Amino acid sequence: MKTTLLSLICAASGALAAPHRRSEYAVKDSHAVPSQWKQIARAPKEHTVTLRIGLKQNDFDGLERELYSVSDPAHERYGQRLSSDDVNKLVAPDEDTLSAVHDWLEGNSVRLDQVDYSPSRDWIIVPLSIGDIETLLDTEYHIYENAEGTQVVRTPQYSLPKSLHRHVDVVQPTNYFSDTEAMRKPFKFSKMHLGPHHEFVPPGYKWNHPKYSGTNITAVCNESAVTNLCLRTLYNTVDYVPQVPELNSVALTAYLNETANISDFHIFLSRQRADASLDYTFNYTTIADGIDFQSLETTYYGERDLEANLDSQTIGGIVYPTEFKVYSTGGSPPFKADENTPTDTNEPYLTWLAYMLALENPPHTISTSYGDDEQSVPYSYAKRVCADMAQLGARGVSLIFSSGDSGVGANGTCVSNDGNSTRKFLPAFPASCPYVTTVGATRNVEPEVVAYDVSNGYVTGSGLSNYFPRPAYQNAAVEGYLDSIGDLHAGLFNTTGRAYPDIAAQGFHYVIVYAGLNILLDGTSCAAPTATAVLTLVNDALLAEGKAPLGFLNPALYSKLHLGFTDITIGNAFGCNTSGFPAQQGYDLASGWGTPDFLKIKALATGGQY
Ligand SMILES: *[C@@H]1O[C@H](CO)[C@@H](O)[C@H](O)[C@H]1NC(C)=O
Ligand SMILES: *[C@@H]1O[C@H](CO)[C@@H](O)[C@H](O)[C@H]1NC(C)=O
Ligand SMILES: *[C@@H]1O[C@H](CO)[C@@H](O)[C@H](O)[C@H]1NC(C)=O
Ligand SMILES: *[C@@H]1O[C@H](CO)[C@@H](O)[C@H](O)[C@H]1NC(C)=O
Ligand SMILES: *[C@@H]1O[C@H](CO)[C@@H](O)[C@H](O)[C@H]1NC(C)=O
Ligand SMILES: *[C@@H]1O[C@H](CO)[C@@H](O)[C@H](O)[C@H]1NC(C)=O
Ligand SMILES: *[C@@H]1O[C@H](CO)[C@@H](O)[C@H](O)[C@H]1NC(C)=O
Ligand SMILES: *[C@@H]1O[C@H](CO)[C@@H](O)[C@H](O)[C@H]1NC(C)=O
Ligand SMILES: *[C@@H]1O[C@H](CO)[C@@H](O)[C@H](O)[C@H]1NC(C)=O
Repeated sequence: MKTTLLSLICAASGALAAPHRRSEYAVKDSHAVPSQWKQIARAPKEHTVTLRIGLKQNDFDGLERELYSVSDPAHERYGQRLSSDDVNKLVAPDEDTLSAVHDWLEGNSVRLDQVDYSPSRDWIIVPLSIGDIETLLDTEYHIYENAEGTQVVRTPQYSLPKSLHRHVDVVQPTNYFSDTEAMRKPFKFSKMHLGPHHEFVPPGYKWNHPKYSGTNITAVCNESAVTNLCLRTLYNTVDYVPQVPELNSVALTAYLNETANISDFHIFLSRQRADASLDYTFNYTTIADGIDFQSLETTYYGERDLEANLDSQTIGGIVYPTEFKVYSTGGSPPFKADENTPTDTNEPYLTWLAYMLALENPPHTISTSYGDDEQSVPYSYAKRVCADMAQLGARGVSLIFSSGDSGVGANGTCVSNDGNSTRKFLPAFPASCPYVTTVGATRNVEPEVVAYDVSNGYVTGSGLSNYFPRPAYQNAAVEGYLDSIGDLHAGLFNTTGRAYPDIAAQGFHYVIVYAGLNILLDGTSCAAPTATAVLTLVNDALLAEGKAPLGFLNPALYSKLHLGFTDITIGNAFGCNTSGFPAQQGYDLASGWGTPDFLKIKALATGGQY
């Protein structure tokens, strides 16, 4: 209704607008074509793509202030989450912005009744032919092909009328490149431990102790094969029975055609969570042609679905019987080459965010185990994705991301992609976004140490952003840490950037079920769902007492809630041919504040002692 009305008004005013002359245009954004993409031909003018125009938000600073107010335990409005209407009012574009962009579209013969909007209208979404887009953006699109034969239609540079530069943040798809073939996060699959049928069963290891309940960690944990019971014992959730599973909610995200396999989920529960009812299952939502591929009958299906199986089984095993959702998103994301990413591993976050922001009741905690080198993601895109994540935070959602599996950067790849190949650590995105909670990994028990695996080069991810400045909530912790390491690796990282990880959890040799078989996996992909699940149970305790769920965790975490975490003091986040960042007492850049102790966090949170 509103859309129609606005469209009519703008259509009336826009009818007089004339097309902008080329001389009124200036380059808005430019990026070199990544080396693995070869230009092969001009794009067909009639080819249609969905153009997304990210409009300048009216008051993002206001939104950020609100986010910090409702997430800061010291603030009187702590816990008073914003409604979607409140959020939309803050991020909506100015009428000026909307009408300037509408005039421009209409001046180029784009009918406003073809145009769609995000709920706050900060995105304009319109399907257009390449010919029309070339005129709009004063550019030329080409077909590019990579070594796998994947083709995309892109342009390295686009322009906008100068008068629009201040109204528009980002336009897509333009100067980023995606490879739908191999967009997989480096995933550490311990093949060396697998038997003839790709099966790993720890010899003589009793990995299910259905009757066990207690705190004797050595009785249930074998660090060469980490079970769900070990995690529940180690992090003190083993005796907790969720009180309001139908009021609470947790979700995981899946990209890259990954399916969380329901059959494997139930086999996992029957082996590792024998008290769970097999009626328990996650609810599956596909977004933008995401995949829910349950029926294929194969005994072994490559490495696809490892991630989604790991995430779903880890979370379900810990939070059972809490409401649980899986979001599987299709679509293809932006890409910018760098040496650590020979093929595209970006994910279509914007598509997912657009869906989530339109929900009236998004889940309270959401785990995402995907990411990429920050420098491979165009700044304009990263900035807007991170800003859209702040909207979910303001509405009380805890977004949990894994920190990456290459330490401070994989050996031999740590150079800038600005053409100068300057040596530097390579931070990851979205791990580097200040509005999410980023989880690194540990291994071993009593004591846990910073995770690594010499067999596959895996080291828990760590870094300081080159895109996002350090948020105030972590000033004291990070300054203290940087002071303590002196000039170690000085010049290789950005001392003013947002630092991660924030916390850690086990991320080594998880036993999960894949195509019916027990297999072992490494990765911060293990750590993010584990931390998410523990925080989900804290939310259960809060909701049961009529209190607000944790929401965006970091302000509370860095003030007092870190007292509920076990400090990790041994090991390093190696990488870039260096010793990387060492763990030490208190906050550090290898393990953040450490691993969650559910009973302690619950006591602090329900006691109001954040
Ligand atoms: C996902 O599956 C679709 C068809 O089901 C295919 O066209 C596409 O290439 C796949 N993408 C990836 C990244 O595997
Ligand atoms: C742990 O598992 C390994 C096999 O992965 C086994 O050799 C070892 O004996 C186990 N340790 C204990 C204490 O059970
Ligand atoms: C914990 O379990 C181990 C292995 O089963 C056992 O040897 C040890 O005595 C137990 N410790 C306590 C304090 O019960
Ligand atoms: C799901 O897992 C079952 C085994 O539990 C397997 O037979 C089936 O092929 C899997 N489905 C897909 C689509 O991979
Ligand atoms: C799945 O959705 C149904 C209907 O909304 C709900 O009753 C059920 O509890 C959900 N299950 C889980 C595990 O979230
Ligand atoms: C860094 O390590 C990689 C692999 O370990 C090696 O190939 C490369 O030569 C090393 N680079 C430097 C500068 O030492
Ligand atoms: C490379 O370094 C020079 C000197 O520091 C700088 O002026 C130039 O902008 C850099 N090149 C790129 C592509 O950023
Ligand atoms: C360091 O981070 C800041 C943001 O905190 C950014 O403005 C600056 O460009 C970064 N420096 C480099 C060399 O990337
Ligand atoms: C990376 O380089 C460091 C320091 O040179 C070395 O200790 C480590 O083993 C290397 N890691 C890999 C996976 O090659």
